[in-house]
Amino acid sequence: MSTAVENLTLEEAAAELERLAKELARHDALYHGKDAPEISDADYDALKRRNEEIEARFPELVRTDSPSKKVGAAPSGIFQQIVHARPMLSLDNTFSDEDVRDFINSVYRFLGRLPDNSIAFTAEPKIDGLSMSLRYENGKLVSAATRGDGTTGENVTANIRTIKEIPDTLPPGVPPVVEVRGEVYMGKSDFLALNAQMEAEGRQTYVNPRNTAAGSLRQLDPTITASRKLKFFAYAWGEISEPNDLPKTQYDMVQTFKTWGFPVNPLMKRLSSVEAIIEHYNEIGLKRPDLDYDIDGVVYKVDQLDLQQRLGFRSRSPRWATAHKFPAEQAFTTVENIDIQVGRTGALTPVARLTPVTVGGVVVTNATLHNADYIEGIGNSGERIREPDHDIRIGDTVIVQRAGDVIPQVLDVVMEKRPSDAVRYEFPKICPVCGSHAVRERNEKTGKLDSVTRCTGGFVCRAQAVEHLKHFVSRNAFDIEGLGSKQIDFFFEADDPALSIKTAPDIFTLQARQEASLTKLENIDGFGKVSVRKLFDAINSRREIALHRFIYALGIRHAGETTAKLLARSYGSYAAFSEAMAAAAVPGSEAWNDLNTIDGIGEVVARAIVEFFKEERNMDVVSRLQREVTPLDAEAPVATSSPVAGKTVVFTGSLEKMTRDEAKAMAERLGAKVAGSVSKKTDLLVAGPGAGSKLEKARELGVETTDEDGWFTLIGG
Ligand code: IVH
Repeated sequence: MSTAVENLTLEEAAAELERLAKELARHDALYHGKDAPEISDADYDALKRRNEEIEARFPELVRTDSPSKKVGAAPSGIFQQIVHARPMLSLDNTFSDEDVRDFINSVYRFLGRLPDNSIAFTAEPKIDGLSMSLRYENGKLVSAATRGDGTTGENVTANIRTIKEIPDTLPPGVPPVVEVRGEVYMGKSDFLALNAQMEAEGRQTYVNPRNTAAGSLRQLDPTITASRKLKFFAYAWGEISEPNDLPKTQYDMVQTFKTWGFPVNPLMKRLSSVEAIIEHYNEIGLKRPDLDYDIDGVVYKVDQLDLQQRLGFRSRSPRWATAHKFPAEQAFTTVENIDIQVGRTGALTPVARLTPVTVGGVVVTNATLHNADYIEGIGNSGERIREPDHDIRIGDTVIVQRAGDVIPQVLDVVMEKRPSDAVRYEFPKICPVCGSHAVRERNEKTGKLDSVTRCTGGFVCRAQAVEHLKHFVSRNAFDIEGLGSKQIDFFFEADDPALSIKTAPDIFTLQARQEASLTKLENIDGFGKVSVRKLFDAINSRREIALHRFIYALGIRHAGETTAKLLARSYGSYAAFSEAMAAAAVPGSEAWNDLNTIDGIGEVVARAIVEFFKEERNMDVVSRLQREVTPLDAEAPVATSSPVAGKTVVFTGSLEKMTRDEAKAMAERLGAKVAGSVSKKTDLLVAGPGAGSKLEKARELGVETTDEDGWFTLIGG
């Protein structure tokens, strides 16, 4: 135990600051240099906090090499940020041959074509490295950025310049602006050699090539990066000026990159049938152990660039590409216990506590068991997923599986190893947190029992209340830095009125309550002056908040981020939204119909939203919250110059030049809202042949109508 900060003498404080500077620098080096941290993030933060607290008390002792001067020395802080000219997207994953077939069919369907093998796809290894965007202006490398969050990455240009495989200049004749994208990786043999050297020098070895490559790129000193022999494969691009002079297919673009001096993967093929694609996947799988780089699947992309353009993107990934992952890695271990976690919506989730085991290079100690049915061996649609007696019991030896970032799963029970005294797991009938009844609801439509067991305690249940708060402060909601899971637990448990946070509005009254009280947060272990000030700053910076974040933060059942965005966009202001939801409580009312007309909002979601607004306690929390926080009106749809921006459009009848999905995506790209049915608020109805009641209604209401050709003329396509 170290001495409490307020009891330190000047000499002790100076010595302690020196120790902390050294220690934190060592952990920084371990984390960034080797990507092999020795302590948890929480412990690291605690050291950092202690350093800050001592500095706050003895400002005269702040060292020139103080760790607090490297604020945010975390990976994202060391390098400057670069906003990508085009976002760097991720890929959807597919796991089975069936998924691949579905992907290919969806491409044909979206384009309104029959799956007749007329569309070519490229198939190439998915490299397990780091994606990188290289920007060349007038043939010179000007910047290199990591993917980051897809919109903004880190500027690692100096380090990238040390990679021999990446050209510094491009041949004459390339467009003035070119962004080549691809994967930076470390070869397996180079990785093994590096580790052999580390071992010989008695230093700690690295975990895997990917982490080592990541750590090597995050060096502030490029000479270290240079010594690491990183490599590169080009497979994509961002902004390109004058793209018309370039090839019209994915395959040929990549071959062009090769002529510009970039390494490209030799295993890329252009194929058209599902069978040929899967055969190539299997071939690459067989070659995998002999390749000198790690791969974790095969990427398929629509070859023709004009088709890629038509297919466009979903929110995070292109419709024209997918990653076919190699099967997950598995291991055997035992179930030591089964715990129940109670979530925000009261769902009771069983979690298997496992004897730690390494699966695909990661230590696994927990696995979700989803629900009571899953433990029994029954899937979501009532189907058997394991043999009848293979229910999961405490003491069982099980097969666990990890696939990509997915939470580990318990796949099956090894019956030969089942202990004789293992008994069937009895799923709790009462909530382990609040003691309320836990029930399985019946699905109104199918009449079947829901797979989820839910605590009926609602606001009474501490677990639900705490999870609610955690949701409220989470990244896509209020995103309050300094209010993590641990802090929420602390404030929720605190009984002192100057500290307690039970509901969301309490977060915003904390500072005032603190100022009026003698119980000071900064005197409590784990806080300290600096962090308290930062916390209040973080809270205050959220007193104005985007409408969709506000709606999402309310934690309305079934209303995720996408729904919240739809609602914000449709209603524009919180006042309009809440008024409409109150009115929508009357079945068949115009407000109820409007809500259901929003494309992307189904009846279940609509009902949950209306229910939320009917509950008095929710309204009480919201009105207290509104005293503290102002939800900002949603921005009007991007003021694109398109003639349909901000308009509400409905498509009906059969369309001949585009599929319904494509039409919708196109309209949204141009800033229009697409609705499913016609109302007074509709601005335009695009009616194809066979249009019926919607066309009639539009005429009745005097809504402007046009046909497909008229639509294309309007948008200038
Ligand atoms: S294409 C718009 N091709 O996988 C799609 N990505 O899950 C751009 N990756 O962030 C990506 N090998 O880091 C593509 N041959 C390949 C790839 C590949 C590895 C990575 C890349 C990307 C991630 C997506």
